[in-house]
Amino acid sequence: MYFATCPKGLESALADELLELGLDEVVAGNAGVAFGGGWAACHRANLHSRVASRVLWCLGQGRYDHEDDIYELAQALPWPDWFSVDRTIRVHVSAIASPLKSLEFITLRIKDAVCDRFRAQVGSRPNVSTVEPDMRIHAFLGANEITLYLDTSGEPLFKRGWRRRSIEAPLRENLAAGILRLTGWRPEEPLLDPMCGSGTFIVEAAQIALGVAPGAGRHFAFERFEHHDASAWETARDAAMASRQPVRELAIFGSDTDRSALTAAKDNLREAGVGGAARIQFADALSLAPPAETGVLVANPPYGVRMGDSDELAAFYPLLGDALKRGFAGWRAFLFSGDTRLPKLIGLKAQRRTPLFNGAIECRLLEYRIVAGAMRRPVGGDVV
Ligand SMILES: C[S@@+](CC[C@H](N)C(=O)[O-])C[C@H]1O[C@@H](n2cnc3c(N)ncnc32)[C@H](O)[C@@H]1O
Repeated sequence: MYFATCPKGLESALADELLELGLDEVVAGNAGVAFGGGWAACHRANLHSRVASRVLWCLGQGRYDHEDDIYELAQALPWPDWFSVDRTIRVHVSAIASPLKSLEFITLRIKDAVCDRFRAQVGSRPNVSTVEPDMRIHAFLGANEITLYLDTSGEPLFKRGWRRRSIEAPLRENLAAGILRLTGWRPEEPLLDPMCGSGTFIVEAAQIALGVAPGAGRHFAFERFEHHDASAWETARDAAMASRQPVRELAIFGSDTDRSALTAAKDNLREAGVGGAARIQFADALSLAPPAETGVLVANPPYGVRMGDSDELAAFYPLLGDALKRGFAGWRAFLFSGDTRLPKLIGLKAQRRTPLFNGAIECRLLEYRIVAGAMRRPVGGDVV
């Protein structure tokens, strides 16, 4: 079994995606989705999932009462069968409702168990690297049950390999891809991000439209596993490369008022292999003319927690609402924000509010269907 982790709130979007990828035994859980299958399933999820953060391979599960039970469970696993002693390791522990006090101590016990197993089986132990480990071991503790996993992804999957230039607050690629799924956008429809920053929505949308596998340009931890099937992996990657469509101009539009962000967006599109597929321009979202009669507008406006001045933002949101109402009748607009003032101040009634986590920040994806002469709600009239 595998467990693909994802940002909280995207579990059902990820489950749908994994089903579309033809994976079996797909079951949505908390901040991730379980699925079954052999190495082909693991390759497939790592290579093609746009929404997952990591794909973890389940090694074992057991009951525990104290730290020694965890040590024994970890020590009983044949770690040297899975990776060589030359590989560096790091143990990550997370817990919900565990009675054990110190996660640090559990981390240490699991590390000791792995090293002791290596010593017993091959006569030496792997080194620890907290910065760039070759192998990441994950332990999830419930109230009295622990599950151990080996991370098959390595670097998190939102690191697609195309982000060369960053800006102050870029969205994570898998969060952007998950939001695109939640909007229901289809590649035949025009898509606009009028505050595109480094272009995360735009790049993800162009890759979706052109069938570019998000993992085709990077490496994965499973390539370092002892039993890695290099030829099966090569076949899977070659098939993904062969099925991508040639780049063409799409109805995908990005704009922003920050010229350096726009340069980053163009660089990112090019690095992602979709340069020229989307149109990027300098424009103010408050006076932008829609690029088509209808379509999907998606944006992650500046918000207080990470950027922008608080009073300035409070003044910006009503103007943004007016601009949407004035120019975007017929469009579906989706705003992703962690600022609880936005829904109150924008002066439009949200059709749907989906809670989603951006790291530790609780955010909302707000959906507005803009109709001609859209009802203008009094400022402060909408509740979060
Ligand atoms: C939170 S960032 C968006 C990040 C983007 N989603 C990404 O992944 O890189 C908000 C963006 O809104 C832009 N912005 C702020 N006010 C704007 C305006 N009036 N018109 C257009 N863009 C604006 C900022 O320059 C910034 O790039």
